Amino acid sequence: MRTHKQNSSKKNTKPARKSFKQQNQSGDGLIRLNKFIAHSGIASRRKADELIKAGFITVNGQKITELGYKVRPTDDVRFKGKKLTGEKPVYIVMNKPKDVITTVYDPQGRRTVIDLLGGKVKERVYPVGRLDRNTTGVLLLTNDGEITRKLTHPSSKVPKVYIATLNRPLKKRDIQRLVDGIELEDGKAFADSAVYVDPDDKTKVGVEIHSGKYHIVRRMFAAMGYKVIKLDRIKFAFLDKKDLPRGQWRFLTQKEIGFLKMIAGQQPVSLKEKAKKH
Ligand code: URA
Repeated sequence: MRTHKQNSSKKNTKPARKSFKQQNQSGDGLIRLNKFIAHSGIASRRKADELIKAGFITVNGQKITELGYKVRPTDDVRFKGKKLTGEKPVYIVMNKPKDVITTVYDPQGRRTVIDLLGGKVKERVYPVGRLDRNTTGVLLLTNDGEITRKLTHPSSKVPKVYIATLNRPLKKRDIQRLVDGIELEDGKAFADSAVYVDPDDKTKVGVEIHSGKYHIVRRMFAAMGYKVIKLDRIKFAFLDKKDLPRGQWRFLTQKEIGFLKMIAGQQPVSLKEKAKKH
């Protein structure tokens, strides 16, 4: 599988990525609706015109059938109710190294996960959830807002597996405490499972967790008096970092995208919310 790596020793001298605005807008800041639809990857511009004429497209909640209609990049454009991004959806798995920030832009100019893409991805992808600056491992990036929303929603049950290296051996009863739940300032946090990775080295612990809360793993160990000196995410859902050295990334295969969508569909937030009301 083809992977990508940016030369990490080289200072990042690439020009800033052109924003959606720069790439697509005419002088009045608007783009043609058929172009916006075509960029979403669902149809060619000609086919997009047919969809518009047939009344399948809404802009900010209003059906638009006028050919030549123009939209702002921030407008809510939908095809049969499904929100379009104005770009082809792309899905990337990265093996994040240390000292890289999980954000699209860092005002302090530190290296971000987007810098690691080395300008090779023209779509405006962003990370799904966060890894701390010094946490390494599997990170998903996409421009698919719907999948991001589903995978990062607090009700999401997407499993993540981490290997934590601690400052001292973890006591057996503390392994159990991870699973039984640990009181944190924002509520009780549970590991789905916790194991010693190596029976001869009890400072290395594998933790499976589905919470996506900020610093969750470090905070759980800190609450029991341990310091995490290394944290590596080895799995996000079914994605791992096999054949993906640190700092490298690759596009997901069609099969993986399908699987990811299926997983996201297993926690349809809107349906869950509806179910709660009944
Ligand atoms: N938990 C943490 O403490 N840090 C991470 O980066 C991810 C999970």
